Amino acid sequence: MMAAQRATDHCEVTTAAETPLQLDYTKVQAYWKSARPSMLGPYMMDGFGFPIGAGRFRFRGEVETVAEATRNLDPDTSVLDLGSGVGVWAEYFAQRFARVVAVEASSTLYTALKDRCSPYPNVTTHNGDVLSFEPNNDRAATEGFGLVFLGGLLMYLNDDDVSTLMRRLIPYLKPGAIVLCRESTIRKGVKTLQGDYQVVYRSVETYRSILVNAGFDVVSTQANSAYISVQMACELVKKWKAIVPERFRCLPVVGRLAYWGLRLGYPWNTRLIPWLLSGMGYEFPSLTNHFFVLQPSIPAAADRPDAQAHDMQPAQERMQTAR
Ligand SMILES: C[S@@+](CC[C@H](N)C(=O)[O-])C[C@H]1O[C@@H](n2cnc3c(N)ncnc32)[C@H](O)[C@@H]1O
Repeated sequence: MMAAQRATDHCEVTTAAETPLQLDYTKVQAYWKSARPSMLGPYMMDGFGFPIGAGRFRFRGEVETVAEATRNLDPDTSVLDLGSGVGVWAEYFAQRFARVVAVEASSTLYTALKDRCSPYPNVTTHNGDVLSFEPNNDRAATEGFGLVFLGGLLMYLNDDDVSTLMRRLIPYLKPGAIVLCRESTIRKGVKTLQGDYQVVYRSVETYRSILVNAGFDVVSTQANSAYISVQMACELVKKWKAIVPERFRCLPVVGRLAYWGLRLGYPWNTRLIPWLLSGMGYEFPSLTNHFFVLQPSIPAAADRPDAQAHDMQPAQERMQTAR
């Protein structure tokens, strides 16, 4: 029941306030502490009757985008995965890159992250808030990171904290490093959900403006088709739940029908259906999702004239100096 309520919150953006509100981080943390440590939980896909394969489908679709965005990175690099959830991405990066540092605030999800990553000696895990996290003196922190991954994290942070976090990352980046964000988005403006599930949905333009002001170039943005496919199924099931009394809902059947129906037309239907409906004045799905590839707009350390002196200073000190 709890999961169903959360799922409703996830798909519903119309009840949100019209002006940006501040998130209550106590509620954000409480929500994630009680999240189910399955693949569907951190993907916000619980409570719709979807098979567990729906989480794997979305992950595989996203892997294609992440693999493409990171294909030029040196495998002998370190990755910082902030807000790691159950660790599916930390595990993926551990198989591709030399070192991974994963940070997760929820103790429930952290346990799952630690278990998942225990076969990988190149993964270091931290249970804590990304806003107070300091990489320690391990090799990753001193050499800097080649990739920072924020998979659905910024939407749980207020604008000021997004800016602060992004600025704090810059001194930890190696020359040529990229920051890859994946965030749920809306078509225009900002909507903040209050209540038990607190989140900020921002438009691509809003993200772009925050990220540019925080010192990054937005190298590219890309719609997350796998997310959009599952989100369409979410919103259809939600409509079903709104009109059918609970005892007749048959969610395991209806959820699978919606999911598999949309899978059959994937990926073309993720563009065609929203396009057709927008022509009729409907925004469907109400929530979308984008990847953002970022690089610091200030030249990275090795490219700057003061590179030699800069490189003699470990990344951790550089970060403290930057504050
Ligand atoms: C939507 S889930 C995404 C999980 C994972 N990145 C993925 O893509 O599967 C968001 C995650 O961010 C974590 N999170 C939210 N705010 C956080 C914070 N301030 N510090 C650390 N983790 C946070 C949540 O606990 C949750 O695991």
